[in-house]
Amino acid sequence: MQEGVKERVYVITGASSGIGRALAIILAQPGNSLALIGRDAARLAETARACASRGATVTSLRGDVRHRDETRTFLLQFDAANPVDCVIANAGISVGTSPTGEIESEDETFALFETNIAGALATVLPLIPCMRTRMRGRVVFVSSIAAFAPLPDAAAYSGSKAALLAYGLAMRERLRDDGIKVNVVCPGFVTTPMADRYLGWKPFEISTEAAARRIMRGLRRNRAVIAFPWPLVLGGAPAAGTPRTTPPGWSRRLSFPHLAQQ
Ligand SMILES: NC(=O)c1ccc[n+]([C@@H]2O[C@H](COP(=O)([O-])OP(=O)(O)OC[C@H]3O[C@@H](n4cnc5c(N)ncnc54)[C@H](OP(=O)(O)O)[C@@H]3O)[C@@H](O)[C@H]2O)c1
Repeated sequence: MQEGVKERVYVITGASSGIGRALAIILAQPGNSLALIGRDAARLAETARACASRGATVTSLRGDVRHRDETRTFLLQFDAANPVDCVIANAGISVGTSPTGEIESEDETFALFETNIAGALATVLPLIPCMRTRMRGRVVFVSSIAAFAPLPDAAAYSGSKAALLAYGLAMRERLRDDGIKVNVVCPGFVTTPMADRYLGWKPFEISTEAAARRIMRGLRRNRAVIAFPWPLVLGGAPAAGTPRTTPPGWSRRLSFPHLAQQ
């Protein structure tokens, strides 16, 4: 995956369903170690079995990424035994479209931000110091095309994904000199239980397997933003500006003149 270095140890949150499960299956190859996190014990165990049968070594945590301490403890213990090459912060929720057109409630909005942002940070932040010490690693945030084409019927969801996109792109530049790659994945509609709950139009919907293949291709090419399918990317980007308005070299010079000189 990285130039000259094969990634073998992965952490994937939200591995009990949908895109996370499909990524786990693709990465389940002999020689690879996977740490899988999800809340539903039965579905998580099913993913773990499928991955183990493909030859991967699997460790599972039935856990909630909103529980920072539990998540951190698990990640650091796993990393101590299996230095993590790549962490994929994929777990996420959506509120789903209300048939009556109601906006997301206050409780729903706070719960969503807690999972989609705080949960993603709880997943990646404990591992970044470990990766910096090793001067290698990869951090992947699963955002959404809604980050730059916000959905009026999913404002909280769109806002949470835009936050991940901005955070991920900033961290990509910040961690570049530490040998850590950062990629932000922005899928369009992918057939999963989450997409099933969305009542709006879902143009160019694709399967989880197709989404996982596109994500893997983007990771191999180390794309900053792995967005698909292209008709939605082309159509959605003008809605709120392109995902990255400042060229990375410029943003580094503007933010960190002292670092840019190094
Ligand atoms: N499907 C789409 O059209 C689409 C489009 C763009 C982006 N995405 C993003 O892709 C990611 C995966 O979504 P999906 O479509 O695959 O949905 P999904 O099938 O509903 O899967 C969501 C996964 O996240 C896990 N999860 C949710 N909250 C969690 C928590 N607090 N702690 C631990 N795990 C938690 C779920 O675990 P349990 O089921 O075990 O609770 C499940 O494994 C999400 O970040 C989503 O926003 C999806």
